Amino acid sequence: MSGLLKSSIGRKFAMAISAFFLMFFLLQHFVINLTSIFPDHGATFNELSHFMGTNPLIQYVMQPVLIFGVVFHFVMGLVLEAKNWSAQKVKYAQNNGAANSTWMSRNMIWTGAAILAFMILHFIDFWFPEINTKFIQGDWSGLHNGEYRYFHELQEKFHHPARVGAYVGAFAFLAMHLLHGFNSAFQSMGANNKYTKGLKTFGKLYAILIPVGFMIIALVHYFNHSH
Ligand code: HEM
Repeated sequence: MSGLLKSSIGRKFAMAISAFFLMFFLLQHFVINLTSIFPDHGATFNELSHFMGTNPLIQYVMQPVLIFGVVFHFVMGLVLEAKNWSAQKVKYAQNNGAANSTWMSRNMIWTGAAILAFMILHFIDFWFPEINTKFIQGDWSGLHNGEYRYFHELQEKFHHPARVGAYVGAFAFLAMHLLHGFNSAFQSMGANNKYTKGLKTFGKLYAILIPVGFMIIALVHYFNHSH
């Protein structure tokens, strides 16, 4: 493993694997969150949240793997960025500027930093209170006043316009990050065949639809709550 991470190709490959894992996480996170805007007053969302929040496999296996995946992706992103910087000390004319690379590909570190800032806010909003309730207070019932608390907690968070604005802005950065990230990850894994064109289209759709979907969820809760 450490041998793999010593070569440039190996590092890119590992980065791509962690990226795909995070994209898979994001998809399931999106699907579960989407149920929070179903017209059933949060019933489905509550059931799914309780299952995810109390299932031992999710809590003690998938959650640590996810934390590792996030940290790995972040640290590896910094390492790749640092290597790029030192490589650019020798400048080649064709390597430079907007002529043959997109804004998104040159700014992965910055769109990534914006996502990291969002994650800090997001963890303060949801994850830390959840860890506190379950692992510190030892309350795994998921109940508040005899009812599941998850949907109500979600609604509370999307009450404040500044927070909703920050979330929506962060999802725009997420789209930019994914637009380059998806194709780049495929390239690092050596994908170059008759399916490449289709995969690129799929990547673009994923990169736009998921963040826009997250925006819609945040806005629906905001407008529902302000009435
Ligand atoms: C409207 C959009 C979103 C909503 C309503 C939302 C909601 C939530 C909720 C309720 C939790 C707590 C789950 C728990 O631990 O019990 C959570 C956790 C989390 N969210 Fe989100 N989320 C949104 C968008 C995102 C996005 C875009 C990302 C990634 C870029 C993200 C990453 C995470 C992560 C990493 C966790 C911790 C997962 C865990 O281990 O439990 N979320 N989110």
